[in-house]
Amino acid sequence: MNENTIIVIFGASGDLTHRKLIPALYSLYVKKRMPDKWRIVGVSRSTFSDDEFRQNMESGVKEFANDKYNAGLWQKFAANVTYRPLDLGDVADMQRLDAYLRQFEENNGPCNRLYYLAIAPRLYEPAIANLGAANLVDESEGWRHVVIEKPFGHDLQSAQALNTAVHQVLRERQIYRIDHYLGKETVQNLLVFRFANSLFEPVWNRNYIDHVQITATETVDVGHRAGYYDGVGVVRDMVQNHMLQLLSLVAMEPPASFEADALRNEKAKVFSAIRPIQPHEVAKHTVRAQYRGYSEAEGVAPNSETATYTALRFYIDNWRWQGVPFYLRSGKALADKSTEITIFFKRPPHVMFPMPPGSKLAANYLSICVQPDEGIHFSFQAKVPDTAADMRPVDMSFHYDDTFGPTSIPEAYERLLFDALKGDASLFTRGDAIELAWQLVDPILAGWETEAAPPLALYEPGSWGPAEADLLINHDGFTWVQGCGNHDM
Ligand code: BG6
Repeated sequence: MNENTIIVIFGASGDLTHRKLIPALYSLYVKKRMPDKWRIVGVSRSTFSDDEFRQNMESGVKEFANDKYNAGLWQKFAANVTYRPLDLGDVADMQRLDAYLRQFEENNGPCNRLYYLAIAPRLYEPAIANLGAANLVDESEGWRHVVIEKPFGHDLQSAQALNTAVHQVLRERQIYRIDHYLGKETVQNLLVFRFANSLFEPVWNRNYIDHVQITATETVDVGHRAGYYDGVGVVRDMVQNHMLQLLSLVAMEPPASFEADALRNEKAKVFSAIRPIQPHEVAKHTVRAQYRGYSEAEGVAPNSETATYTALRFYIDNWRWQGVPFYLRSGKALADKSTEITIFFKRPPHVMFPMPPGSKLAANYLSICVQPDEGIHFSFQAKVPDTAADMRPVDMSFHYDDTFGPTSIPEAYERLLFDALKGDASLFTRGDAIELAWQLVDPILAGWETEAAPPLALYEPGSWGPAEADLLINHDGFTWVQGCGNHDM
C-alpha cells in the first residue's frame, strides 16, 4: 500500500485497543503491510501524554503479540503513534482533531483516514454525527472509512435506526461493520474449501446432506462483563452475528466473483431464505439455559432470565436446503472451547455388509474446525483389519499447525484491519445483512418473553450444557458431535 494513511482509534483507552487493535497493527507493521507513510492517533476522554499512551500499548503488544515483539521495531512503530484526549460528543473537539490531523497531512501530503469506533455502542450515533458535523468524512483529499464494532443494534428497530443515522453521514462503501469471526483464517477458508475444490460442491445440498451442526462453546463465564451481558444474552452476543455468519458461509450459493458485493449478495440471500422461528414456536425449535451461579454474579439482575446457552433449529427455504435442519448451539461456562461446523451426509441407501441387529451405520461427516485446533476432519467408514467385514468410523484430517506451521494463523483483527486499509469490505457485514439477521433473532427473543417460552434450563458450569439441547436434536434422530476434538460428551 503506497497511500499515506492516518488511523484514528476512538476509544483508545479501552480494552479492545490494548488487547487487539494495536497488537494487530503492530503485527501488520512487522510484516511490512502498513502503508508507506502512516500515523496512528489514539483518542479518548482520558488524559495521557503520547509517551504514557505508547507505554500502555507496548504492554498490550508484549502480552498479545508476544511472538512478534521486538524492542527496536516497537520503538520505530511507536514513533508513529500519538494520543489526543477529546470528547467525541463535542463538535469543537472533533474540529480540533481535524486540525491536528491536518498538521500531519501538511507535512506528508494528503492522507486517507480510517476511523475506528472502539467505543460503547450508545456512542456510535453521536460519534458518526460529529464526524459529519466536523467535516471529518469529506473525501476530497483521500478516502474516509469508518469501522464500527459490534453490537450493531440491540434489535431490528435499533439496527435500522443506526443504519439510517450512519447513512446520513456516510455512503455504504465507507462503512466497515466488524464481525471478528469473518476475520478468522478458518472461516475465510470455508470459501476456498467450498469454491476452489470440485469434490464437495456437487454433494453440498439436500440430496446428500442430512443435517448441519454449528457449535460455538466457551469455557469462560461472563466474568467482569456481567453488567453488559445481562441485558444481551447468548442470542444477541453470539447467534445474531457470529453463528449466523458461519451459517451463511456454509449455505450460500457460489458467488460469481470474489468482490465484496458479490459475496455479500449471496449471504443476504441466505438470510432472506432462513425460515424465521415464530414466537409461538420457540419451545419447539429453541432451548434456553443459564449456567448455575450466573444469577449470583455481580452485575446480574436478581432472578435474571438471561440465557447464557442456547440451542436452535433453523430451516432454509430454498432449493438447495429444503428440509435440511441446521442446528446451532452456543454457550458460556462449558466443558471446552470449540467452534466447529459439522456437515452430516446421508447414510448409504442400502448396506450390504452384515451388521449387528438393530445397529445403524454411522453417517459420514465433515467437520470444519474453526478453533482452537484449526483444521478439517472427515469421518468415514473403514473395514477393521482382520475381520470379515466389521466397520468403524475413522478420521482423515488436516491441521493448520502441521501443514502451515504453529504460528501460521494471524489474529482475526489483523486481517480485518488490513482489509479496511485496502478498502476491501468483503469480510465486513453490510447493513441489509445485519437487519436480516436481527429479523431472525427478534421473534425468538420475543417468544422467550411470552408464555410460549421453553423453560429456562440450568446447567452446571464445566458441563456440556443442558439435557434439553440433546433432546432438541435427538428428537430428529441425531446427536451432537464434537467432530474436531472427539471429546466424550
Ligand atoms: C464476542 C462475544 O463477540 O465473541 C463474546 O461478545 C465471546 O462474549 C467472543 O466470548 C468469542 O470470540 P472468540 O473469537 O473467542 O470465539
